[in-house]
Amino acid sequence: MTRGVFISFEGGEGAGKSTQARALADRLRAEGKSVLLTREPGGSPGAEEIRHLLVTGEPGRWTPETETLLHFAARADHLARTVRPALARGDWVLCDRFVDSTTAYQGYGQGIGLPDIDWLTRFIVGDDGPDLTFILDVPVEMGLSRAAARTGDENRYERMDRTFHERLRAAFQDIARQNPARCLVLDATRPPAQTGMIIWDAVRSHLLP
Ligand code: TMP
Repeated sequence: MTRGVFISFEGGEGAGKSTQARALADRLRAEGKSVLLTREPGGSPGAEEIRHLLVTGEPGRWTPETETLLHFAARADHLARTVRPALARGDWVLCDRFVDSTTAYQGYGQGIGLPDIDWLTRFIVGDDGPDLTFILDVPVEMGLSRAAARTGDENRYERMDRTFHERLRAAFQDIARQNPARCLVLDATRPPAQTGMIIWDAVRSHLLP
């Protein structure tokens, strides 16, 4: 059995990642593919419990070091229980956020050194990272106002200050520049259906026979 395909969706708050991941899952399923749609932090029962610790409560609840380790702890569980078994079955794994979010949020955003994120990535992820990553880019103001329209208590990151969110946007651009073979930056101010077409074309040309 050949390994499945791993695609991640990245971006700041309110960029539309979840919508695009769902749309791609629908298209792939219509082609007869077996698809696992998952997310980080979360994606396994244990990682969903850790997610709750990360996305609720006061912005200053954790130190940057604790927060980084919580994201990697959630990721280790998600990889072991959800992602690796799916890739081993030959499934398409579509993940709403992955390690690039740690690099952006905890590295560029919260000051954790990138070499530390790199060794944790080698330790926890190894060779099981994404084959293709879509980075959805929207101006900070637009993203935050879209995100504010959502209900629920998962708003800890949204409440971090404006300069934090500006650093994230620049971070994702840097990540894309440093990983040109894997990352595609998309202007997500377009109507979602247009962004969806660009994503589908990219998947067809890069990954479908
Ligand atoms: P979501 O709202 O896109 O599901 O993501 C939850 C929050 O977690 C989002 O604000 C970004 C943040 N996050 C990190 O700070 N580091 C990470 O490694 C991941 C995966 C998410």
